[in-house]
Amino acid sequence: MKIVHTIKELQATLDDLRAQQKSVGLVPTMGALHAGHASLVKRSVAENDATVVSIFVNPTQFNDPTDLEKYPRTLEADCCLLEACGATMAFAPSVAEMYPQPDTRTFSYAPLDTVMEGAFRPGHFNGVCQIVSKLFAAVQPDRAYFGEKDFQQLAIIREMVKQLQLPLQIVGCPIVREADGLALSSRNARLTAEQRQQALRISQTLFASRTFAAAPGLRLEYFALVDGRTMQTISQWEETDYAVGCITVFCGDVRLIDNIKYKEPEL
Ligand code: PAF
Repeated sequence: MKIVHTIKELQATLDDLRAQQKSVGLVPTMGALHAGHASLVKRSVAENDATVVSIFVNPTQFNDPTDLEKYPRTLEADCCLLEACGATMAFAPSVAEMYPQPDTRTFSYAPLDTVMEGAFRPGHFNGVCQIVSKLFAAVQPDRAYFGEKDFQQLAIIREMVKQLQLPLQIVGCPIVREADGLALSSRNARLTAEQRQQALRISQTLFASRTFAAAPGLRLEYFALVDGRTMQTISQWEETDYAVGCITVFCGDVRLIDNIKYKEPEL
């Protein structure tokens, strides 16, 4: 596997591949690779003649400087994993290589990028679109692979590709989990043993909600997380001190309602 650090070196190899009519898959990553990334790379290797994996901790998508500083960087181990997965090339540029001058472009895909991560991490998706569009321009892949764990990111990238009319296919790949259900993430490396245990609640809660939706004999009409005073759906946990989950379910032809207070104000 070739490791290159500049767009010039990257494109020299890509030119050779293109001259031989080879198809190219791109797997954009920020490194600290794990089995989730490996599944993307293996899929690309299976579906393309050559696979380029970019390893770049993109500063423009971090709204928190401490998060950027603490993001794990493990280039040597990453390259071993990529070699074992059959990648053709690792592209690990410097910040100066990707941003020789500040990127002043803005990307806006409302309403996709105004909620959830877009609301909690201002500028995050703009930075993601800046770097992903640069990578697409540099590699010009036939297909690019993204994990479904970053579900909102995947939807925004699909929209960007559609609006910019880029001639490539975006392939979404399923979440990879530890045996106990925790979704794989480069950030898991920062969890203490106690936090690792606590984090299990995340997937357990999601799986429990899916079990409910598939429960025999029950048909969910709605579930809403609302402000207990206004009955309006809340989109941010901190926006109210009175959060109530309200549910309505048909059991056969019997319509049952229930609710649970997640937090309520002291009266
Ligand atoms: O999902 C990630 O790891 C990053 O957001 C990406 C797509 C590599 C862009 O930096």
